Amino acid sequence: MAHTHSSRYAETYQASMTDRETFWLNVAKSIDWIKPPSRAFDASQGVYGRWFPDAEVNTCYNALDRHVAERGDQLAVIYDSPVTGSKSQLTYREMRDQVARLAAVIRDQGVEKGDTVLIYMPMIPEALMAMLACARLGAVHSVVFGGFASKELATRIEDAHPKLIIAASCGIEPNRVVTYKPLLDEAITLSAHKPGKVIVFQRPQAHATLIAGRDLDWVDAMAGAEKAGKSADCVPVKATDPLYVLYTSGTTGKPKGVVRDNGGHLAALAWSVPNLYDIHAGDVFWTASDVGWVVGHSYIVYGPLVNGATTVVYEGKPVGTPDPGAFWRMISEYKVKALFTAPTAFRAIKKEDPNAEHLKKYDMSQFKALFLAGERADPDTVNWAETKLGVPVIDHWWQTETGWAIAGNPLGLGPLPVKHGSPTVPMPGYDVQIVDEAGHPLPAGKMGSIVIKLPLPPGNLPTLWHADERFREGYLETFPGFYNTSDAGFVDEDGYLFIMGRTDDIINVAGHRLSTGGMEEVLASHPDVAECAVIGIKDALKGEQPCGFVVLKAGVDRPHADIENEIVKLVRDKIGPVAAFKLAITVHRLPKTRSGKILRGTMKKIADHDPWTMPATIDDPAVLDEITTALKEKGIA
Ligand code: COA
Ligand code: AMP
Repeated sequence: MAHTHSSRYAETYQASMTDRETFWLNVAKSIDWIKPPSRAFDASQGVYGRWFPDAEVNTCYNALDRHVAERGDQLAVIYDSPVTGSKSQLTYREMRDQVARLAAVIRDQGVEKGDTVLIYMPMIPEALMAMLACARLGAVHSVVFGGFASKELATRIEDAHPKLIIAASCGIEPNRVVTYKPLLDEAITLSAHKPGKVIVFQRPQAHATLIAGRDLDWVDAMAGAEKAGKSADCVPVKATDPLYVLYTSGTTGKPKGVVRDNGGHLAALAWSVPNLYDIHAGDVFWTASDVGWVVGHSYIVYGPLVNGATTVVYEGKPVGTPDPGAFWRMISEYKVKALFTAPTAFRAIKKEDPNAEHLKKYDMSQFKALFLAGERADPDTVNWAETKLGVPVIDHWWQTETGWAIAGNPLGLGPLPVKHGSPTVPMPGYDVQIVDEAGHPLPAGKMGSIVIKLPLPPGNLPTLWHADERFREGYLETFPGFYNTSDAGFVDEDGYLFIMGRTDDIINVAGHRLSTGGMEEVLASHPDVAECAVIGIKDALKGEQPCGFVVLKAGVDRPHADIENEIVKLVRDKIGPVAAFKLAITVHRLPKTRSGKILRGTMKKIADHDPWTMPATIDDPAVLDEITTALKEKGIA
C-alpha cells in the first residue's frame, strides 16, 4: 500500500483551498465548452454563489458526441441483465445516434430547453438514453426510482411539473415483475399536474396498455424518427442551468428536489473520475447501483461517459441472480477496473458465501479497486472485501445533495493509508469542519455536527427545485456560513473523517435513504392509530431496518396482528417496497419527556441492545419497560 508521501493529495487539496479560481478553471479545461468560463465562481449569484457563471455548455455533447471521433467504436455502455437473461452493448457512436434520435422524438412532443421530463425506468440502457436525450435538449430530467409507489411518484410529478414522462412497462425484481405502467397511471391520476405525453418502452415481461392520444410507444416513435431521418443537435445551455432534479428524502414526508447544474456537475465529474476512482478513457467502470439514485446519475451515467470510459448497466442483485458469484462474473467477463457499490451488497455476498468460494471460478486480474458508499462501511465488511479481493477497498462519503464525494481516498492521486471505519479525507473544494450545537469548532476526536464552509464546490446543489427558502432553512440556517450535512462524526489527529450517523430523522436501509418522519405520516393515516413513532434499528444485512411503534385509538378492539399487517401494507402502498418496512409493534403508550417529546433515541438504543441511561426528563420511566417487553415479544430486544 502506498504511503502518504507518495500521494499528491495534500498539495492538490491545498491548491483547491488557497486558489479556488485557478484550481477549478484548470479542471474546467478538460470540458468542451461552447463558451468557456472566464471565471470559476461568482459569490453574488444564487443562494450562496454560482459556478462558471458566464460559461455555456452541453452535457450530452461532453458525454457522447465529443468522444465519437476518437473512440466512436469503443463501448460506451455494457448492459447485463441476469433477471431477464439478456445482454447487449453499445458503442459511443451507437449511443450518440440513439440519443440524438430520441432527443428528436422528445422535441417533437413539444419539449424545449428548460422543460422538465420525468423518467421512471429500471436498469436498462434506454434509461441512460432518456437522461442523455433530455440533457441534449437542455431539458431537465427527474428520474424516479422504480421501488417507489404511486403516491411518492405523484408527489414528484406534482413538484417537477413534467411536460413529458418517459417510462418502461416494467422493472424486474428476482421474485416478481414490477408493472410500472399501472403505478404511473395511478400517480398521474393522483397528481394535480398532468404531463402532456407519456413515452413507454415496452418490455416483453409485461406489456403496458397505452392510453390513446397521450401515450406513445418508444419503438414506434424511434422507428418513425429514423424513417424521417430525424436527429436533434445539442442545445447550448448556461453552465448554471439545471441538468436534472433528483428527489431525496427530507425531514418531512415531502421529498426535496435536489438541483444539479450543468457546468459545476461536469467539473466535479471531470475531477473525480480520474483522481478519486482512477478511471480514465477506455477503462471499464461499473457502478452497481440504480439510475434512480444519485450514485447512478454520477457514476453509472454521466461520470464514466464524460470521461470516455465504458459504463456497466447491471440489472440484477449481488446475490440470488443467480448466486453470490454474480459480481465476480461481471468483473471478469467485462474486465471491470473498478466497482462502486453499497456495503450492504457486500454484506449480502459475505453472508451467502463467507469463504468467497465463488471467487475461485473467475479471473479478476483486471480488477483494481472497490469503492463503497451510501451508508457506513463497517470495518468487518471492508476487512472481508480487502482480504478476499486483494485490492484497495475505498470507503467514500457523500450525499444526493453533493453529487460527488465529500470525503474519500483519491486513488488517482496516489492512495493514502486506509483506516477502517473512515472515508479518509475531504476532497478538493470541501472545507469540512466539526462543530458543536452552537457552531463552535471542536477539537480532533470530539464528535459533533459535520458542516462544510460555504461555498460548496462545483457539482453540489445550488438550491432546491423552485424552493430557495426551503434550501436556506433546511441546510444553511443552523450554522450560518456553513452547509449542514446532517451527519454527525469526528476528525482524528491525522485529519481522517469518521461518519457516525445522521442528526435528523433519516435512516439508511440497504444503502437507501429513507425518512422516518415520512413513514410516521403514513402510520398516522391508519384509522385505528392514535400515535406512532418510527425508528431505524440495527440490521446485520441492511445496516438499519425501520421499526414502527403504534398506539391505537381508545375503543379499538381488533386483533393487533391484523392492524400491524395493515400498517405494513400501507407503507408498501404509500411509499413503496424500497422502504422495507416489515415491523409494526402495538404498544399502550410511547415514552415521552415531560414536555411531550417522543424519546426515539432511547427506544433505538433499547432495540439495538446498546447501553442506555434513563433520560432525566422522562415523564414515566415504566413506559420503557413496556417498550422492552414489546420488542422482546417480537424477538428483538
Ligand atoms: N423496483 C421495485 N422494487 C424494488 C426495487 C426496484 N428498483 N429495488 C428494490 N425493490 C424492492 C425489493 O424487491 C424488495 O421487495 P420485497 O419486500 O418484496 O422483497 C424491497 O424493495 C426492499 O429492497 P432492498 O432493501 O434493496 O432489499 P433486496 O432484498 O432487494 O436486496 C440486498 C437486498 C441485500 C441484496 C441489497 O444488498 C442491495 O443490493 N441493495 C441495493 C444497494 C444499492 O444499490 N444502494 C444504492 C445506493 S449506492
Ligand atoms: P444519499 O443522499 O442517499 O446518498 O444518502 C446520504 C447519506 O448516506 C449521508 O448523509 C450519510 O448519512 C450516508 N452515507 C453515505 N455514504 C456514507 C459513508 N461512506 N459512510 C457513512 N455514511 C454514509
